[in-house]
Amino acid sequence: MPMEKTFAIIKPDACSRGIAGQVLAKIEENGFQVIAMKKLRMTKKQAEGFYAVHRGKPFFSSLTDFMSSGPCIVLVLQKENAIAAWRKLMGATNPANAEPGTIRKEFAQSMEANSVHGSDAPDTASYEIAYFFSALELCV
Ligand code: CMP
Repeated sequence: MPMEKTFAIIKPDACSRGIAGQVLAKIEENGFQVIAMKKLRMTKKQAEGFYAVHRGKPFFSSLTDFMSSGPCIVLVLQKENAIAAWRKLMGATNPANAEPGTIRKEFAQSMEANSVHGSDAPDTASYEIAYFFSALELCV
């Protein structure tokens, strides 16, 4: 199976609780290579651009407030079948439905403060990687 890249965020709820390192350990333990990583705080406008696909949904305003409420860590992960593998490791969006052993089961606090994000398909992975990283930052 060919190597694939996906995009991930360690969200503000995880960064503010000091558990980003534990999330990163799980990423590495599960065989993902961290291709690129940075810590930043999105503005409300940047969060709206990132989640543009959700514009108009009832949770859009609250989601973009939350995602711009504090620092997060954005990452590019590589592995065979990385998009599906990262979504499996994250667990269900709603932590109440997340499987044991997943990051959201262990760390997420709510549907919104659910600790991590991951791309859901190759085209969204490409969009989301390019939203935060230049080609030069993906050269490792
Ligand atoms: P994420 O994977 O970052 O993609 C969109 C986010 O919207 C999702 O995780 C949740 O944190 C958040 N969200 C809040 N409410 C909902 C909802 N009702 N359905 C889906 N996502 C929601």
